[in-house]
Amino acid sequence: MLLMDNILIIGAAGQIGSELTLALRKIYGAEHVFATDLKQAAPDIMDGGPFQILDVMDDKRLIHFVIRHKITQIYHLAAVLSGNAEKIPIQAWHINMDSLMNILDLAKEVEDIKKVFWPSSVAVFGPTTPHDSAPQLTIMEPRTVYGISKQAGERWVEYYNRRYKLDIRSIRYPGLISYKTEPGGGTTDYAVEIFYDAVKHGCYNCFLSEDTALPMLFMPDAIKSTIDLMEAEAANLSVKSSYNIGGMSFTPKQLSEEIKKHIPDFNISYKPDFRQAIANSWPCRLDDSIAKNDWDCSFTYNLESMTEIMIQEVQKKFGTTKL
Ligand code: NAD
Ligand code: SER
Repeated sequence: MLLMDNILIIGAAGQIGSELTLALRKIYGAEHVFATDLKQAAPDIMDGGPFQILDVMDDKRLIHFVIRHKITQIYHLAAVLSGNAEKIPIQAWHINMDSLMNILDLAKEVEDIKKVFWPSSVAVFGPTTPHDSAPQLTIMEPRTVYGISKQAGERWVEYYNRRYKLDIRSIRYPGLISYKTEPGGGTTDYAVEIFYDAVKHGCYNCFLSEDTALPMLFMPDAIKSTIDLMEAEAANLSVKSSYNIGGMSFTPKQLSEEIKKHIPDFNISYKPDFRQAIANSWPCRLDDSIAKNDWDCSFTYNLESMTEIMIQEVQKKFGTTKL
């Protein structure tokens, strides 16, 4: 780790950014981690270190900001996620791609920028990908505009890494589960919403069918993996596009059964909507053997331990310990 690093986080008010900012401020010092977003963030992000409203699409302000604050690392987290992107496909394509190209060009132009992190997603895969343990290298025919933008993004990341000898690192996150900030419009959001509705109402109407298995990861493991990848020796990183990472795989029914161990009267119903087709097109688990080999990617939480913490934390948020 370079102690003199100055880090820019774009999308710091979001589900991942709101936790990653705090984790990076602990490591690098609050004054070295510049949180930015289009909207206001939680008070601990805005008051606990530098925060500024910044639009990643505004390349002129972006370069000015990067030079002025002597930024050496960028985490680019702004995107339109899978469910929301299907409602505004062309706009989502422009936001996801143009923002990435702005960051890649910035990394090429500004010599001080040593490393960039940009997340890809399980959404790069499609129905022709092996459904279980999708390999790192395999058939990828995404059916969603979000998945197409992530797949194209991966190709551009690899291109800039190889052609311009940059150091841009990436993870294909599975669905992320967390309690600090609510998710931003993805297909895996049910696995967060379910906890809020279980605690507040004792029931949940799920937008996916009971047997839809998807890859998932608890936020503390996602944050740790992200930082571990960014701190890994560059020479060990064989994947120049984006790494598969694993975690857990479960269905809404399995998650509801786990919740019932804590809230016995919890009741789940199912009303699949347009997101069912998206979920059906994604693998249920990713093979992360290359990430394990290259940078010791590892996880702490499983379905049981994640559920226990989610229920405790959501109960604390709403001031209730039991229904
Ligand atoms: P999110 O929607 O919760 O947060 C994204 C943030 O970006 C929001 O706070 C939004 O205001 C901000 N933003 C949007 N447009 C912007 C712009 N033009 N300029 C600056 N900020 C802007 O998303 P997230 O869940 O935190 O995801 C972060 C990244 O991780 C995305 O690239 C997403 O595709 C990827 N990812 C997330 C998941 C997941 O389950 N959360 C899974 C796979 C990949
Ligand atoms: N959680 C994300 C989504 O559902 C996966 O990238 O869009």
